[in-house]
Amino acid sequence: MGVCGYLFLPWKCLVVVSLRLLFLVPTGVPVRSGDATFPKAMDNVTVRQGESATLRCTIDNRVTRVAWLNRSTILYAGNDKWCLDPRVVLLSNTQTQYSIEIQNVDVYDEGPYTCSVQTDNHPKTSRVHLIVQVSPKIVEISSDISINEGNNISLTCIATGRPEPTVTWRHISPKAVGFVSEDEYLEIQGITREQSGDYECSASNDVAAPVVRRVKVTVNYPPYISEAKGTGVPVGQKGTLQCEASAVPSAEFQWYKDDKRLIEGKKGVKVENRPFLSKLIFFNVSEHDYGNYTCVASNKLGHTNASIMLFEVKTTALTPWKGPGAISEVSNGTSRRAGCIWLLPLLVLHLLLKF
Ligand SMILES: *[C@@H]1O[C@H](CO)[C@@H](O)[C@H](O)[C@H]1NC(C)=O
Ligand SMILES: *[C@@H]1O[C@H](CO)[C@@H](O)[C@H](O)[C@H]1NC(C)=O
Ligand SMILES: *[C@@H]1O[C@H](CO)[C@@H](O)[C@H](O)[C@H]1NC(C)=O
Ligand SMILES: *[C@@H]1O[C@H](CO)[C@@H](O)[C@H](O)[C@H]1NC(C)=O
Ligand SMILES: *[C@@H]1O[C@H](CO)[C@@H](O)[C@H](O)[C@H]1NC(C)=O
Ligand SMILES: *[C@@H]1O[C@H](CO)[C@@H](O)[C@H](O)[C@H]1NC(C)=O
Ligand SMILES: *[C@@H]1O[C@H](CO)[C@@H](O)[C@H](O)[C@H]1NC(C)=O
Repeated sequence: MGVCGYLFLPWKCLVVVSLRLLFLVPTGVPVRSGDATFPKAMDNVTVRQGESATLRCTIDNRVTRVAWLNRSTILYAGNDKWCLDPRVVLLSNTQTQYSIEIQNVDVYDEGPYTCSVQTDNHPKTSRVHLIVQVSPKIVEISSDISINEGNNISLTCIATGRPEPTVTWRHISPKAVGFVSEDEYLEIQGITREQSGDYECSASNDVAAPVVRRVKVTVNYPPYISEAKGTGVPVGQKGTLQCEASAVPSAEFQWYKDDKRLIEGKKGVKVENRPFLSKLIFFNVSEHDYGNYTCVASNKLGHTNASIMLFEVKTTALTPWKGPGAISEVSNGTSRRAGCIWLLPLLVLHLLLKF
């Protein structure tokens, strides 16, 4: 016993001390372990947190005394319970088997357990490792973020579990789903608008299904006018000017004519705004409506503008027609575009007739 310190006793010494306490081992007799014969404990036991673990020890009828020991305590000796933990119960104590059960296993139960027997005055031990598994759990994750284009971002996803879960980040965008990081941390330098969207953190460790959480990354950028086409309309017809702009946050639109802001609600004119689109509608175009209009799109990051012409076309005897780029009443994009192509020969014809 001399080699074992008082405070930091290695588990083996503790087992010997405990066995001596049980009078299983006379003082001075070393305890052998790893014996090929009895007692034969099962292989390592792997259970999930919250489940029950059965510790089984195979014995024979020569065995006179039996005990199951924890790292530092005697759990059961024969039919007697030595520990106070109500989760430890005796399952069987027969001529061939000595088993106990630990219920509602937790991570601190992990470690070596010893089955100790005495046969013909020879003490023998056999060790089994209890391995406790825990499903992955994401304990910390970045919150949704709104950032200006060009800035750096750093997302964090901390997960626990046993074994230690693998953490990956991927970008879920409408175009593609890609792995972006096989790490708890995801750093993006100089973020672009294409990199906005949901980022999914996944933690997996084979114990249970992977757990996933999402973080929404909003990338703000100043407006960009993608479409602003002039329109030719005959006098007396309905005419619409359309201005399309992409921006985050959504653009706000304003219309000008020759540097004069158009006041909404002006008679016969209406402005229709949607997040990415503004329409300036003339219900009954007159001569003085023709001219150069400017669409200004702005958000908190900046503004941009584009000029759009509302020009006159003369009605022909054949058909009153809508100029190139004019928006017909049909709101279906497909048929509108098809309509424009169909109108092209008519436009040429019209120009020919003019000269
Ligand atoms: C049991 O677990 C211990 C500790 O994890 C390990 O060293 C040992 O190799 C394992 N034995 C078997 C048979 O898996
Ligand atoms: C085993 O020993 C450890 C440390 O002494 C203790 O925390 C744990 O509760 C024990 N487990 C059982 C099942 O008694
Ligand atoms: C982004 O990170 C790079 C490299 O660490 C650094 O040089 C740059 O100043 C950072 N940009 C911003 C806007 O913080
Ligand atoms: C359009 O305006 C002209 C001139 O003001 C008027 O004669 C005509 O009836 C109007 N047409 C419609 C459809 O309101
Ligand atoms: C319309 O006005 C803008 C400036 O307001 C000018 O740059 C552009 O050339 C004008 N377009 C036409 C066709 O006159
Ligand atoms: C449109 O943009 C030009 C150049 O950025 C600027 O000079 C002009 O004042 C703008 N027009 C309006 C109506 O905002
Ligand atoms: C537009 O019309 C076409 C054919 O009429 C149809 O197949 C398509 O689904 C429509 N699209 C929308 C957005 O309504």
